Order: sequence, then C-alpha cells, then structure tokens
Amino acid sequence: MSTQSFNPPVRTLMGPGPSDVHPRILGALSRPTIGHLDPEFIRLMDEVKELLQYAFQTENALTMPVSAPGSAGMETCFVNLVEPGDKVIVCQNGVFGGRMKENVVRSGGVAVMVEDTWGEAIDANKLEKALKANPGARIVAMVQAETSTGVQSDVAALVKLAHAHDCLTIVDTVTSLGGTPVKVDEWGIDAVYSGSQKCLSCTPGLAPVSFNERALEKIRKRKTPVQSWFLDLNLVMGYWGSGAKRAYHHTAPINALYSLHEALLLLKEEGLENAWARHQRNHLTLKAGLEALGLDFIVKEEDRLPQLNAVSIPAGVDDAAVRGRLLSEYNLEIGAGLGALAGKVWRIGLMGHSSRAENILLCVGALESVLGDLGADINRGVALPAMQRTLD
Ligand SMILES: Cc1ncc(COP(=O)(O)O)c(C=O)c1O
Repeated sequence: MSTQSFNPPVRTLMGPGPSDVHPRILGALSRPTIGHLDPEFIRLMDEVKELLQYAFQTENALTMPVSAPGSAGMETCFVNLVEPGDKVIVCQNGVFGGRMKENVVRSGGVAVMVEDTWGEAIDANKLEKALKANPGARIVAMVQAETSTGVQSDVAALVKLAHAHDCLTIVDTVTSLGGTPVKVDEWGIDAVYSGSQKCLSCTPGLAPVSFNERALEKIRKRKTPVQSWFLDLNLVMGYWGSGAKRAYHHTAPINALYSLHEALLLLKEEGLENAWARHQRNHLTLKAGLEALGLDFIVKEEDRLPQLNAVSIPAGVDDAAVRGRLLSEYNLEIGAGLGALAGKVWRIGLMGHSSRAENILLCVGALESVLGDLGADINRGVALPAMQRTLD
C-alpha cells in the first residue's frame, strides 16, 4: 500500500498539553508562507512581541518567542544566565524542577536543590533556609505550575524572597500563562519562559520568553560565551530585536508564528482576567463532576491549578485500559501520571480552548461509563446533576 496524506483523527485534548487548538489558529497556520525578512513578516514579529508583553504583563523589551518548544525556553534562560561556577537554587516539587537541575549542571553551574513533596506547593521557609545557607547563590529557579502534579506555587512571594537575598529568578510558566495570573513586572520576575501549546491553545513548538534589565545586565557581564549558539540571546536579538534592521539568525518558523499571533490575539480579545476566570469556573464544574463520581484530587484545594486536575486512579483500575478506551471510544485524551506518579494518577487538563463546559461534560460522562463498565467502585448517576448545579 502506498503512503498517503496523513489525516489525524479529531480528538478532544484534555491531557497536560497540547490542548485543543482554536480553529482560528489552525486557519492562520495555513496562510501563505512569506520570507522571514519580508517587511510584512517583521510587522507580524513586532505585533507578536507586543501581544506577548500583554500575556506576560510586562514591559520588558526582550520579550519574544524562541523557535522551539517550552524546553528550549527553559534552556534559553539557563544557558544565558548561568555561567560556569554559578550557584543556582532550584526549587523542585515535580518533574520539571528536575529538568531545571539538568540545565544548571549542563551550563556549568552548581545546583542546590530545595525539594518539596510532589503534589505540594514550594515551601517559602525551605527556600529561605537554603538562601541563608548559600549566601553565594546567584539565581533561584522555580516552576509556577507543576504540570506533573497540578500544583501552583506562590511565585510573587518566592521571587520577593530571592531578591531579598540578591538572587535573580527564573520562572517556568509553561502551564500557567493564559490560564492563571502571571504578572512578570508586578512580581519582579527576572527571566520567564512558557510554551505555546497549553493555555495559549496554540500549535506546539514555540516558547515565549521575557527578560528584564537585571537579567540582561548579568548576561552582558558574562565572562564566557553562551555555550549554545542557537539560544545565545545576543545573537538571537539581531533578528528579534527592535528597529527596522534585522539580520538573519535562523529561518523563523513563519507559519507557526502566524498561529501564535492569532492565539495571542484571541487571548487579548477575551481579556486576560476573563481567561483566568473561565479557567477557574470550568475547574469548579469538573471538580464537581469528578468528586461526585468519588474521585479524589491529589493536591489540596487552595494550591490546585484550575487548568491541570490530578486525581487518584481508583483502586484496582487499570490506568492504561481506561485511557485507551477513552481514546478509542470517545476520541478523548486525558493524561497519565509522570515519574513517581505513573500509574497512580490521571491528569485532566482544562487548558485554553480545551477549557469549555462541553468538554467537561464529555470527559466526566465518558469516565463514568468506562469506569462503570470496568466495575470500578464509583457513584453512578450523580455527576451530571452535580456539574449542572455549577453551570446554572
Ligand atoms: C511545567 C513545564 N515545563 C516545561 C515543559 C516543557 O515543554 P515542552 O514539552 O514544550 O518542551 C512542560 C511541558 O509539559 C511543562 O509542563
């Protein structure tokens, strides 16, 4: 049989990302490709930067998307800010803090780990202790929204603490941007990165980043060149910087940037506060349904991310069998547990365009049918009215 065009099935994406891509964004992606130095494309780049400043709530001039996924946004922050020998305090309460540690070490830095139990928020007292014990530390890194567990940490307070000890901050907002408040200037975050495929509902593969003056000053004073050519901000800014004169650095993913532009425009049209409120409202509906079924959240209520809901898999239930049936019978994707939580939890995402009432009703209804059919000990017939009460 000859190979044919690939036509993916139409799924409902309720895992940890990617989320459903809005039709307007898919439409933007298919527009004609133009050159990466075409004046019209430069105009689009300038608008993308402005729209990202809105999404991040910042006036940082160095605000742009890296042409690669969220992990490259993370790497951009670390390779530019960490110099060989720099001591970096990494707060870890899930998978992605571990990836930050790798970045510190590979940039020649020394990682001091501050560990919290998975599923719990970063403990400011532990960070303060580490800062006092390591007066030479230069940077504190943290994940605002830990996608592996569905917990959010108080970035504003943690950044304040880091600054009091003269440290710069790197904050991962891959899962938070567009879903819950990220206030880069108000909170004083020095370097921040995100991803296009979560609450921005864009196609995967772009990583918005933003750096303030304090961060840029550290980069300008580097004694050693940035070890990555591609991610070296001094070079990237020749293309993404301001002014009419832009030099070739790499061929930008033109169409992907059309889609990010459209995604950010949708966010601006909705309004950040309204987007945050929608994510919270829909979380409450999902919560009502899941709890009515008898499923338990692993994160305590006040630290829960509305866009990433992690619940324990009921005893005796085959994780893969349930997710497989949701996919094959309902075209519905939910997420498995990662790392230490593999096989123990499901991660149900309500991110961006996926955060809609119709998706929640589908997800809880499908879970009820499949779990009931497998003989799991759940409550039947009560989830729909529980959810409806939140929608009235
Ligand atoms: C908190 C967090 N950081 C970093 C990443 C890495 O992003 P990407 O998979 O786009 O490289 C993810 C992806 O899920 C994430 O959730």
